[in-house]
Amino acid sequence: MKNFKEWFSDRVTKTTTKTFVPLSVRIRLDQPFYPLSDEWFLSSKIATEEDADSILTIEKLCYNGQTPWNRSAILHEIRFNKSAFYIVVFDKDKPVAFVGSWFVTHEAHITNIATIPEYQNKGIATYLLREIIKIAEKEDIKEVTLEVRVSNKTAQSLYSTLGFEKGHIKKGYYANDHEDALEMKYLIKPTGKE
Ligand SMILES: CC(C)(COP(=O)(O)OP(=O)(O)OC[C@H]1O[C@@H](n2cnc3c(N)ncnc32)[C@H](O)[C@@H]1OP(=O)(O)O)[C@@H](O)C(=O)NCCC(=O)NCCS
Repeated sequence: MKNFKEWFSDRVTKTTTKTFVPLSVRIRLDQPFYPLSDEWFLSSKIATEEDADSILTIEKLCYNGQTPWNRSAILHEIRFNKSAFYIVVFDKDKPVAFVGSWFVTHEAHITNIATIPEYQNKGIATYLLREIIKIAEKEDIKEVTLEVRVSNKTAQSLYSTLGFEKGHIKKGYYANDHEDALEMKYLIKPTGKE
């Protein structure tokens, strides 16, 4: 699991005395639903503490019963990490996908994204990443970044389709098996506003 403090201290060069209102409190989703067909709509919401179990359920179904982030890590993120921003997608009451991110200074970093197998290849992760990109644009963020396992060609292909570019390889990045990670980056196009 990525250590937020380590990652954060690499990026933040100045502190602010302004009152900081977390993104998860002050922002609304541009499109809080995703249509699978004319009659079949999924709903999405910004995660709160009550969604921790839904995120865990999605993780278990996507990672062979494993949870890269355990319940207390997810709860800690949602409760205490003011830079964290999670979106969860539901089919009625069934949790089907989520994205986790950290918004800090000029960067939005995707910490995880997953869609349960029976809902994959329907555009749900594409929808979630586009929501993150739209928020990043509004927040004057310069880039959306992530790391992906070098073996995870499915996810890499999705990110490339969306316009993410390949970056450096981080050797032995993953703590559990030391697989290398590929850095990928999406540059936000300037909107022309000052
Ligand atoms: C990677 C992952 C999140 C993708 O989720 P997804 O919801 O299936 O993603 P999408 O449906 O948006 O996109 C997947 C592919 O389907 C295509 N697609 C999008 N909408 C589609 C639709 N309506 N019909 C058919 N295909 C569609 C996309 O273009 C993409 O293809 P591409 O890679 O050739 O561009 C999912 O496979 C997953 O959860 N994997 C396990 C966890 C994981 O590896 N997470 C990434 C960690 S870095």
